[in-house]
Amino acid sequence: MKLGDLPTPALVVDRPAFDHNVAAMAAVHPGERLRPHVKAFKSTALARELAEAGHRTFCCATTREVEGMAAAGLGHDLLLANEVLDPVRLGRLGDLARSGAARVTVAVDSPETVAAAAAAGVPQVLVDVNVGLPRCGCDPADAGRVADLARSSGMAVRGVMGYEGHLMREPAAAKAAAVEASMKVLLEAREATGGDIVSAGGTGTYDCNRWATEIQAGSYVLMDTEYLPHARAFRHALFLWTTVISVNPAGWAVVDAGLKALGMDHGDPTIVDVGQCWFVSDEHITFGTDAGSPLAVGDRVRVLPAHVDPTVAMHERMVVVDGEDVVDTWPVDLRGW
Ligand SMILES: Cc1ncc(COP(=O)(O)O)c(C=O)c1O
Repeated sequence: MKLGDLPTPALVVDRPAFDHNVAAMAAVHPGERLRPHVKAFKSTALARELAEAGHRTFCCATTREVEGMAAAGLGHDLLLANEVLDPVRLGRLGDLARSGAARVTVAVDSPETVAAAAAAGVPQVLVDVNVGLPRCGCDPADAGRVADLARSSGMAVRGVMGYEGHLMREPAAAKAAAVEASMKVLLEAREATGGDIVSAGGTGTYDCNRWATEIQAGSYVLMDTEYLPHARAFRHALFLWTTVISVNPAGWAVVDAGLKALGMDHGDPTIVDVGQCWFVSDEHITFGTDAGSPLAVGDRVRVLPAHVDPTVAMHERMVVVDGEDVVDTWPVDLRGW
């Protein structure tokens, strides 16, 4: 099958760009120095590509991602890098760990999350520490107490995690020093918790975080327009393939994909080569057409998303192409909770 034959809208992975991204990251963080974050792509087929490239440990944001990865035989070492309280969902992770099908570690940051993990039979935890992003993560001064509580509740403490998400888009000149300061907080917390792991970082800090023992990047492998200026080593490996369904001679055209196919929280998508996005509605993108690129109804148009994670989560599959050839299909099989 050819790209031109695909029904639209379709979410498409550019295989050479994907391979470039995998190689560029592995050159800096080979093997288990990288714990890729599954949340960005939600696909066991894609995760298998990373495992084959040497990255066998993964971060997950949901219990569904952990369970799906284990069921796909990718359960070598799965970190639920997020706080979960639901006893039923956590209980399934406890069962998974007991069955030996996966090594499961869960992030905890409070007495409540420690109690939930212990009650579910989760065998090991990382203490999630606030390193500056106002989200999850305990006060660094409490990290030792959370670790002690986890140990006295019967769980092993593997170390700490601290996601410096607020620094991913800092100007390069200021970024390294800011990351160093936030990792200093995390290393001090690790003194109090014990354990070997210092898990942190992402696509925006993979090249300047020298303190984490493992980097949690995920977006790098597909990328989006909002992130690319902050991580220039990577390429756009994901696009939405659309069809022009209406052309107005006054200077605009419309394609057959809109809000229901694109994460919009990081802004408008980019229309490749043939125009500029005006606005996005439920099933449509309306864009101003370039005078030099006359468009006809039925023409195909590439659209680059501004935010990869929510875009992928709206699709059932990613179609993989090499140039004009369709070479694979990767189900987005880790959606839901
Ligand atoms: C806990 C955690 N770690 C790491 C990441 C890094 O992801 P990215 O590759 O998008 O920078 C995220 C992204 O939201 C995250 O929530």
